[in-house]
Amino acid sequence: MRFSPMSLPALAVVGQAVASPISKRDTASDRANAVKQAFQIAWDGYYAHAFPHDQLHPMDNTYDDYYDGWGASAIDAISTAAVMGHREIVNQIVDYIPTIDFTYSNETTISLFETTIRYLGGLLAGYDLLSGPAADLVSDKSKVDTILKQAQVLANTLSYAFETPSGVPYNNLLINNRSNDGSTTNGLATTGSLVIEWTHLADLTGNHTYAQIAQKAESYLIHPQPSWAEPFPGLVGSTIDIATGKFTDNYVTWNGGDDSFYEYLIKFFVYDPIRFSEYRDRWLAAANSTLEHLLSHPASQPDLTFVNIWNNGTTISTSEHLTGFIGGNFLLAGSVLGRQDLIDAGLAFTDSWHATYNSTATKIGPEVFAWDKAGVPADQEAFYEKAGFYITSADYVLRPEVIESYYYAYRVTGDTKYQDWAWDAFLAINSTCHVGSGYSGIENVNVVGGAGFDNEQESFLFAEVLKYSYLIHAEDADWQVKADGKNKFVFNTEAHPFTVVG
Ligand SMILES: *[C@@H]1O[C@H](CO)[C@@H](O)[C@H](O)[C@H]1NC(C)=O
Ligand SMILES: *[C@@H]1O[C@H](CO)[C@@H](O)[C@H](O)[C@H]1NC(C)=O
Ligand SMILES: *[C@@H]1O[C@H](CO)[C@@H](O)[C@H](O)[C@H]1NC(C)=O
Ligand SMILES: *[C@@H]1O[C@H](CO)[C@@H](O)[C@H](O)[C@H]1NC(C)=O
Ligand SMILES: *[C@@H]1O[C@H](CO)[C@@H](O)[C@H](O)[C@H]1NC(C)=O
Ligand SMILES: *[C@@H]1O[C@H](CO)[C@@H](O)[C@H](O)[C@H]1NC(C)=O
Repeated sequence: MRFSPMSLPALAVVGQAVASPISKRDTASDRANAVKQAFQIAWDGYYAHAFPHDQLHPMDNTYDDYYDGWGASAIDAISTAAVMGHREIVNQIVDYIPTIDFTYSNETTISLFETTIRYLGGLLAGYDLLSGPAADLVSDKSKVDTILKQAQVLANTLSYAFETPSGVPYNNLLINNRSNDGSTTNGLATTGSLVIEWTHLADLTGNHTYAQIAQKAESYLIHPQPSWAEPFPGLVGSTIDIATGKFTDNYVTWNGGDDSFYEYLIKFFVYDPIRFSEYRDRWLAAANSTLEHLLSHPASQPDLTFVNIWNNGTTISTSEHLTGFIGGNFLLAGSVLGRQDLIDAGLAFTDSWHATYNSTATKIGPEVFAWDKAGVPADQEAFYEKAGFYITSADYVLRPEVIESYYYAYRVTGDTKYQDWAWDAFLAINSTCHVGSGYSGIENVNVVGGAGFDNEQESFLFAEVLKYSYLIHAEDADWQVKADGKNKFVFNTEAHPFTVVG
């Protein structure tokens, strides 16, 4: 059993001669507090050296504006600060939001997708939590309505992106003169991970245009053309022509670039099961086809279950850290739809991505890995035999997806093994990635100490890694995922929780 440093004084105060066994509940609350402390460390570094820019470079206390320059880390932090009850941080962000000019960006191009999931998502979750179950954290209540007003200013700035012949948006925008980078195509995830945010904004404000434009774009993805772009029911290609709304390939994956399209099909149904049952049906088709056609078991560790890429009849046994969300996504669907087979599949995926963590020298999983026996590099043969995969990109950039799946696995099953896995991952990240004034990505997960840093404290450390690491140990609350599928909130792909229509 592990103790965080703060449990020791607490025991001393009680003054027991012999320490009595610590209950699971005490362990969980010590762990939750340790994650909260890490959040404070990351925030303090950002606030001192990078705020109101986007992200901190913790090694030299510089910053970047990779995500529009509106303070991405602050907006990504608000919903986590709220669920953690970090009152001071919540108010620092709430005071900042009214000062942002969402009609102008110093950056040349901004991504509709990244801006939607981080900023629109962060603002809407901040509004939901701080006008709802976390309202007591805010000192100046009048500023809570301003959060929603700012979300509207942002959406009104971005909405011209959907003004294309088909309604499939441009992703790369130059908002200062309402132009775009000239791309003729958009991707599956960048097109298909907008509906929850834009529909929720419509529901909160009564301006239905936001919902209509996002759902029009998504209509091409759930009714894909031409038919060869849907090689298996529900599984579709990766690239869409902006002029026609037709797919230009049939390259099927759950990896980065495609991932959150599938994630959002079931989450949009969770958001409103009455209006969006068609999205559930599309998710079920995709899930069934995935289980039928894409599952793959490494020759050296056949108990592990990963997901192949399908490229026009050829399968490729490569996957990513990003794809680790798939366990949580199946668990959410299984709990909401009452389907034990989907829960079992979700747990098999979660176990398998756990193996990508527990096999490495840092106990952190790699960015990209593969398991095709024919491709094993000579210097990883022993590793492949033991671990069941080999590493093809060894970096770790503070990604959340594996801990995210532990979170769903724990909430759905109640098995404390998943809390232990999440704690192991948190301790590994907290010790390996801490550098200078915060946390950084590392170069090689399979070298003790990480073999160097990328000097980037990603904004999703705040939104996702520390949120899921915290919530898995935290008390039940309205925003927590519910085992019986009766959820009051649904998390967007950046882990911002939105109140469901219910
Ligand atoms: C509703 O949203 C659309 C899309 O951003 C915008 O053009 C329009 O002005 C909004 N309507 C109102 C009344 O705010
Ligand atoms: C918009 O601005 C960018 C850079 O500021 C410029 O390169 C581009 O030509 C402009 N586009 C239009 C349509 O004015
Ligand atoms: C997929 O759906 C078909 C038809 O409903 C069913 O027979 C099959 O068992 C399903 N496959 C899986 C893996 O759930
Ligand atoms: C898929 O492969 C077939 C041959 O097997 C080829 O005719 C077709 O053009 C390929 N389609 C794509 C989208 O690459
Ligand atoms: C690593 O994780 C896998 C999958 O959860 C598990 O089967 C295996 O026992 C673990 N190995 C160790 C050394 O903990
Ligand atoms: C997390 O890292 C911080 C910074 O190094 C350290 O102060 C803290 O004790 C660590 N937490 C745990 C639980 O190890």
